[in-house]
Amino acid sequence: MPSARLTIDPHFAVGRIERRLFGGFVEHLGRHVYDGIHEPAHESADADGFRQDVVELVKELGVSTIRYPGGNFVSGFRWEDSVGPRDQRPRRLDLAWHSTETNQVGLHEFQGWLDQVGSDLMLAVNLGTRGTLEALDLLEYSNIAGGTTLSQRRIDNGRTDAFGVKMWCLGNEMDGPWQLGHRSAEDYGKIASQTAKAMRQLDPSIELVVCGSSSAHMPTFGEWERVVLTHTYEDVDYISCHAYYEEKDGDLGSFLASAVDMDGFIETVVATADHVKAVVGSSKTIDISFDEWNVWYLSRFQNVEKIEGVDNWPIAPRLLEDVYSVADAVVFGNLLISLLRHADRVRSASLAQLVNVIAPIMTEPGGPAWRQTTFFPFSITSRLAQGEALQLKLDAPTYETKDYGTVPLVDAVATHDAETGASAVFLVNRSQDEAVTLTIDIAALGDVSVLESHLIADEDVYAKNTLADRERVAPRANDTAAIAGGELTITLPPVSWTALSLG
Ligand code: AHR
Repeated sequence: MPSARLTIDPHFAVGRIERRLFGGFVEHLGRHVYDGIHEPAHESADADGFRQDVVELVKELGVSTIRYPGGNFVSGFRWEDSVGPRDQRPRRLDLAWHSTETNQVGLHEFQGWLDQVGSDLMLAVNLGTRGTLEALDLLEYSNIAGGTTLSQRRIDNGRTDAFGVKMWCLGNEMDGPWQLGHRSAEDYGKIASQTAKAMRQLDPSIELVVCGSSSAHMPTFGEWERVVLTHTYEDVDYISCHAYYEEKDGDLGSFLASAVDMDGFIETVVATADHVKAVVGSSKTIDISFDEWNVWYLSRFQNVEKIEGVDNWPIAPRLLEDVYSVADAVVFGNLLISLLRHADRVRSASLAQLVNVIAPIMTEPGGPAWRQTTFFPFSITSRLAQGEALQLKLDAPTYETKDYGTVPLVDAVATHDAETGASAVFLVNRSQDEAVTLTIDIAALGDVSVLESHLIADEDVYAKNTLADRERVAPRANDTAAIAGGELTITLPPVSWTALSLG
């Protein structure tokens, strides 16, 4: 059995873990909002039409800030359509997803839902087909207490207090040719800078995210960040990263190493941002908002699901409803490890998305809601990763991948909360056929024991939770963990994700 060694020492911290690292994303897309979180005819729906079984699962998932309302959707969105009396709201064509948007859930209803799930709102403005003025209008409507036409309109629409939205995205994926209003880095950098300056004039307390690349594999990657940040460096706080991974052509080995790609993506964006910092002579540091990340079988959407036809604009069609396997959950857990390991610079992240659409939570209209395999690494990591992320010393065997060359068989991150004394370790074994024995030097943590252990692994790495079998996959204890003489030993089964809480 291959073996690996790890040393954990709370003296070597990478950075504080922001709760925003465990953010989510709700887009008006497919059955996410309609027939997802909102289904007035469902037996669990409240007076506003929100399914309470879904609310309970979102709470259990432990998501902090939630990005809204898109995504590609936002680049064709007129926010004014989504406020005011519901029976007067327009029905619009959503060009991004070839659907009809009824606007029956808008800003007010969504904020009401966020109050139920206990999450904060992060709003994206449309810089695709709209501009600075519309962004200012939305900010005034949302954040000004009263005394102006737009703030009074919010009050008249039933919300006396300002929404007080702190975090704002300056458009979405403006580097992508699929994006309505896609621009060059030069053009986007200019409009983003102008809009950011104007928004800050209105409300200096907001935090702004400028669009980075839609993937580290875009032809403009790197140069896009350099040019956009050169225009916006002093105007924004974060640059975004988006990344989705899928198993392609049966290459599970590369897929299991997806976090290697995410690590490289983050480190390249950090280097580029710091390069621009030096060139513009700034004293401030730009952080990353990794505001879309997940496993997504994008090729299935491109080849099978795409809706077409000039007279075919369905409401809430089934789109992007990926059903996740154990292997997907292991990769997903590893992506969280990558985000945590970069906690010094990734200070916000949004799992894309939450319900039905590439989501940890699935629902059936008139039927149950259930947890996908990816639900578990998110909920467990969000709950256990507290305090600071730690720098680790990891010695592990390696294996060869087609996409990323030689990569470690094991990946890990640890966290430590100095206030409570609690620590947590998150581990992945990427081997497809061998268990790994891991020895962790925990002497620096003092006299600790294993408080919790959670393992995701299965003889069938493609096992899934489905409507017919909603609890086929669930975490179980990894009871191989044993502590003696300042060392913890544990066996990591093939294709597995493990979380340990120590205290
Ligand atoms: O999350 C699905 C889509 O992925 C988003 O709308 C878009 O921003 C990205 O391409």
